[in-house]
Amino acid sequence: MTTATKKRAPARTPHKAAPQRVHDAALEAIIEMRGVVKRFSNAAGEFTVLKGVDLMINKGEFVSIVGKSGSGKSTLLNMITGIDHPSDGRVIVNHNDIYTGVSESQRSRWRGKNLGIVFQFFQLLPMLTLLENVMLPMDYVDMYDFDERPKRALELLTLVGLEKFANKLPVLVSTGQQQLAAIARAMACDPPLLIADEPTGNLDTRSADTIIRIFEHFVEQGKTIVMVTHDPSLTSRTDRNLIISDGELIDETISRSLPKLRHRHMLEFTKLAQRRSYQPGETILSRDEKVGHFFMIRSGNVEIVLQKSGSKDIVLSRLGADEFFGDIELLRGGKSIANVRAGNDPVEVLMIPREDFSRVMDESPITVEAISKIVQKRLEEHRVVDPRKTKR
Ligand SMILES: Nc1ncnc2c1ncn2[C@@H]1O[C@H](COP(=O)(O)OP(=O)(O)O)[C@@H](O)[C@H]1O
Ligand SMILES: [Mg+2]
Repeated sequence: MTTATKKRAPARTPHKAAPQRVHDAALEAIIEMRGVVKRFSNAAGEFTVLKGVDLMINKGEFVSIVGKSGSGKSTLLNMITGIDHPSDGRVIVNHNDIYTGVSESQRSRWRGKNLGIVFQFFQLLPMLTLLENVMLPMDYVDMYDFDERPKRALELLTLVGLEKFANKLPVLVSTGQQQLAAIARAMACDPPLLIADEPTGNLDTRSADTIIRIFEHFVEQGKTIVMVTHDPSLTSRTDRNLIISDGELIDETISRSLPKLRHRHMLEFTKLAQRRSYQPGETILSRDEKVGHFFMIRSGNVEIVLQKSGSKDIVLSRLGADEFFGDIELLRGGKSIANVRAGNDPVEVLMIPREDFSRVMDESPITVEAISKIVQKRLEEHRVVDPRKTKR
């Protein structure tokens, strides 16, 4: 899914005590993690929670992160917020290398201006009113004129529908409302990036829906949001869903192509997958060729083509990013039933060796069923396209 059409957040000038600015070719990136490792030690010794995470998130994206309990979601977010620090690797947030040559207090100030953070448990200060809670971050980083702060705090509370409760203490409003106030507080200094760790984990579905709608509003305004969630109904409302399994990120082509696969199998495929590129029109599989891999499309289009001697090729179907092929042959055993070639653009595929694919499918009846349904539909559709009439 593209975010290119989304409005971008205005560029901001870093605070003078901010971490060192990094020149980066990818101007759109707002978060970049390179080889991030996090180890903890306990009585039993050292253990690795993040095992070399590479991640790029662009400005204006609404990203959800899911994963089993203990898979490293909160630890990953803590690496982005600077709440904790990596054992190895680099983290660049909003063009700042947040761990290189930066003191804890510099990072804390920088965080106040650049990040909004929301947790599952709201952490509002109980003896302050909602309005005072929202003003707190502005006071902390000394942002906005002193007289302007209450007005801005009230605007934010109005945005989340809490203007009537501005002068109430947190204990006097519902938990959903407390979370809304916490979100208003997180956005107090107008940060370009909001990081939320299970922000709806403690709420009923209606309150959760309100929160997601407010997040969607912020994304429309050009903000970037990264949200850890347990709720699969929320991931469908984000631009991108990342899955973390045992401290490693799953390849997004794999999770989108085979969404019902168990996370550990997705991770296995992530590690096994070979990448390959094809030029426009290049043959990927020939009819009757023994199929050695399961293919998932990362980018570009492929054409499934029937070649009849003496007549023009017939394009049976066209497959795009996150679709797969090679499956019929592998599941039913044997050779390619048609020619498969790259379309008008270069194609990048991920390939899983046949034996590994078959072994995992033996343990994955739900995925086999899902694949079979897609294949059945494809065959029924008879998407016969006359290539002469095909425009791109
Ligand atoms: N500060 C810490 N010290 C030691 N172990 C930790 C610490 N924080 C997290 N862990 C361990 O790291 C693993 C991942 O934790 P976490 O990132 O909180 O998982 P998640 O948010 O996905 O449930 C867990 O095994 C947890 O016990
Ligand atoms: Mg967590």
